[in-house]
Amino acid sequence: MSKINVGIIGTGGIAVSRHMPALARFSDLNIMAVCDVNEASAKSAAEKFNVPHVFADYKKMLQMDELDAIHICTPNFLHVQPAVDALDAGKHVLLEKPIARNAVEGALIVEAAKRSSKKLMIAQCFRFGSEAQFLKRCIDAGDLGEIYFARVWALRRRGVPSWGVFTDKEKQGGGPLIDIGVHMLDLALYLMGHPKPVAASGMAYTKIGNTPNHVGRWGTWDYKNYTVEDFAAGFVRLDNGASLIIESSFAANIAEDRMNVSLLGTKGGADTNPLRLFGEDKGALLDITPSLLPTVDFYEVEIRSFYDAIINDTEPPVTGEQALNVMKILDALYQSSEEGREIRIE
Ligand SMILES: NC(=O)c1ccc[n+]([C@@H]2O[C@H](COP(=O)([O-])OP(=O)(O)OC[C@H]3O[C@@H](n4cnc5c(N)ncnc54)[C@H](O)[C@@H]3O)[C@@H](O)[C@H]2O)c1
Repeated sequence: MSKINVGIIGTGGIAVSRHMPALARFSDLNIMAVCDVNEASAKSAAEKFNVPHVFADYKKMLQMDELDAIHICTPNFLHVQPAVDALDAGKHVLLEKPIARNAVEGALIVEAAKRSSKKLMIAQCFRFGSEAQFLKRCIDAGDLGEIYFARVWALRRRGVPSWGVFTDKEKQGGGPLIDIGVHMLDLALYLMGHPKPVAASGMAYTKIGNTPNHVGRWGTWDYKNYTVEDFAAGFVRLDNGASLIIESSFAANIAEDRMNVSLLGTKGGADTNPLRLFGEDKGALLDITPSLLPTVDFYEVEIRSFYDAIINDTEPPVTGEQALNVMKILDALYQSSEEGREIRIE
């Protein structure tokens, strides 16, 4: 079988540290082209991974008939147009999270995927870890019973990115909620079986990020141009009667960073990180902790699953519609914070 030819748009952090090494490990996949407006970055990625074609303009790269699939690894404001253009050019698309800056942009991507009949997957890598997969198997087997509540945490004490455009609201659509909250929110909804959101209420604060003289885990960020929230909290109602709360921060005065989903079910509960299940059986309260789970590179599993969906012509495991539902929640939380009321989600 001939190899699947892949092009990469955006050769920054996530492309070079995760996508390209994973792609290079699969013998049936071939990184044929890379593109970055920063030509030095594109050339350096091409040299490192032996990629023959280098572009500064992604539209020119999309003209290559030989390319079958495109990974979009650009900042959030550059998700919608490259994704729509790639799908319209007849390429399969693996798009970095979040789907876009907002649900209006996200819907354009989902429509383009329908129009093209090509595969679209959003890179929600946290679903693909061994722990998440084990917990999903427990949930599917009924071990937790009916899951009626989730507590979603994507909290950093001083984890403000000091590179890229992560603190620019115009380019990113928001701060920690859209950048890391999206990971845990997607994981929660996946584990809960994708109930649809019906309403959300939230508050977003900028209290630390835009002020000087802080200790940054990842260097000193530009507080003068910090336009996103540094902490957000919200409450979301779901159509099956379940609900969730979410808290997300780049900077907050808390004890430690925490990326975790807690689930409450009628028969059991669970934390994803570290993975623990809580139950009751034969007159005792039981905690279950797996003593051995295979270690996997969840980016590699994610990327493989996208190509397996292409090869087997099946639905990719993270669909555009699922990502759009997550995006609708994030939009509603930001809108709720601005308007001071609960927002209905259509
Ligand atoms: N799944 C994860 O765990 C994870 C982790 C980090 C980032 N991400 C996502 O990946 C995306 C990129 O993040 P990053 O950390 O790699 O950012 P980054 O700033 O390191 O890299 C982005 C790259 O895009 C390039 N770029 C900008 N405009 C372009 C254009 N018009 N055409 C081609 N290239 C262009 C930039 O020059 C840069 O090299 C974001 O959407 C982010 O949310 C996901």
